[in-house]
Amino acid sequence: MDEIVRSDGPAEVSAPPDPPVKDEIVRSDGPGEASAPPDPPVKVVVRIRPVNQADQVVKKVSSDTLSVEDRKFRFDSVIDSNAKQEDVFQLVGVPLVKNALAGYNASILSYGQTGSGKTYTMWGPPSAMVEDPSASSHQGIGPRIFQMLFSEIQKEQENSEGKQINFQCRCSFLEIYNEQIGDLLDPIQRNLEIKDDAKNGLYVENLTEEYVTSYEDVTQILIKK
Ligand SMILES: Nc1ncnc2c1ncn2[C@@H]1O[C@H](COP(=O)(O)OP(=O)(O)O)[C@@H](O)[C@H]1O
Ligand SMILES: [Mg+2]
Repeated sequence: MDEIVRSDGPAEVSAPPDPPVKDEIVRSDGPGEASAPPDPPVKVVVRIRPVNQADQVVKKVSSDTLSVEDRKFRFDSVIDSNAKQEDVFQLVGVPLVKNALAGYNASILSYGQTGSGKTYTMWGPPSAMVEDPSASSHQGIGPRIFQMLFSEIQKEQENSEGKQINFQCRCSFLEIYNEQIGDLLDPIQRNLEIKDDAKNGLYVENLTEEYVTSYEDVTQILIKK
């Protein structure tokens, strides 16, 4: 997961604003059209993974509704089993990167039983990490996000017209297993603690953070581990 700290000009380093936690907070400078409704702070998107046609119990019935036999359930969005990785990225990844670059904390939590497609959705097969993110590629949402993040940063820097814009990206990688937090960038650290204080907010103490400036930096770190 990347953390982005952005400073406009050398003098001032502004911390990202807190994410909007209440519905009635409406952003004035948010991404997207001025007339578009504000994004809810948490969105739940269901992806239905492909199975044999005969086993298909869960069916998409509209853009935000699925059915399980005769019961219907509504979410923010439903992604059908024939959707491509690129479709998931467009729906979930693109707005996330835009919000992150606008200063909001952003994260993706992937939840589901073993074999339901979490790893496929987040990463894709290992070979896809080093592929170009073509529409047909199996590359997951993570690598696509990293690519977009660094290309957007580059665009902002090119369009800054003399004003100096600095971005700082740091990369951490952790696993929670048997209630213990392990540092995947420093596997000796196997039982890290979650801390919460006024200065840092919520964070994992002593978690390794490596500075990254390009997509290749990120893939190097992840492939190495
Ligand atoms: N949408 C999908 N399209 C094609 N194959 C998929 C899809 N979702 C999952 N799979 C495949 O199903 C298997 C299990 O998925 P995986 O991501 O490993 O599950 P999880 O991480 O939730 O345990 C893998 O072989 C994966 O490639
Ligand atoms: Mg998995």
